[in-house]
Amino acid sequence: PTIYVVTPTYARLVQKAELTRLSLTLLHVPRLHWIVVEDSPQPTPLVRDLLAVSGLAYTHLHVPTPKDMKLQEKDPTWLKPRGVEQRNEAMRWLREMAAAAAVEQAVVYFADDDNTYSLKVFEEMRFTQRVSVWPVGLVGGMRYEGPVVENGKVVRFHTGWRPSRPFPIDMAGFAVSLRLVVAHPGARFDRSAQIGFLESSLLQGLVTMKELEPKADMCTKILVWHTRTEKPKIKREEIMQKQGMGSDLNVEV
Ligand code: UGA
Ligand code: MN
Repeated sequence: PTIYVVTPTYARLVQKAELTRLSLTLLHVPRLHWIVVEDSPQPTPLVRDLLAVSGLAYTHLHVPTPKDMKLQEKDPTWLKPRGVEQRNEAMRWLREMAAAAAVEQAVVYFADDDNTYSLKVFEEMRFTQRVSVWPVGLVGGMRYEGPVVENGKVVRFHTGWRPSRPFPIDMAGFAVSLRLVVAHPGARFDRSAQIGFLESSLLQGLVTMKELEPKADMCTKILVWHTRTEKPKIKREEIMQKQGMGSDLNVEV
């Protein structure tokens, strides 16, 4: 089966660096199709050019997050869910593609542009029947969070926060079969989901805990990390710009 990797992304100083790093990981994975969905009203040249030379099979989509749902510069990062419209747009494209090309033997993975992925995590998810799950490192204020497996079944979740959530797992900790996405045309990420309930908003419409397929040695191995990139400080750039000596803005960073 092909793995469709869905990556929402938005313009910021580190965007090209993030997408470059992720693309280099994905190049090592066979039978992979990268769906990059820009949070923008138009596709941007930066992303278009990066994809064109990436060497990957890809689809380039875009949809802007509505203004009232968009995180503002001064907001704390957890205030609003991120990448929601973009992941839903990718699922729309996938359902349409699956119908047109009669593809169903495939897996969908929501891979944010800033996380760190081992190559192994992709092979773990490749034979997903419905929804496969595994732990995620460096997330939720914990060393890791993940499903707890007993007798081959997920019985609960190891999490430090709101264990009452239906599926307290990070976006990077599950993959869904395309067949299931197609079979549930109404399943989507809920933009008005409470903080931490975004993953649950999709998964609730697709599976029950009993049906989850534990991967990564019964969820005992960490194969993906919820890393976050430090925001670069460009104070000096601003000072230099005021003196008319700022960096050339025609140079893409
Ligand atoms: C955590 C989860 O790991 C995310 O999958 C989840 O979407 C997010 O919480 C949430 O609750 O919304 P976190 O590291 O805090 O993630 O989020 P980001 O990495 O900042 O954003 C997730 C994805 O959305 C990234 O691929 C990012 O490029 C994209 N994004 C972010 C946008 O497309 N637009 C934005 O305005 C912000
Ligand atoms: Mn992130």
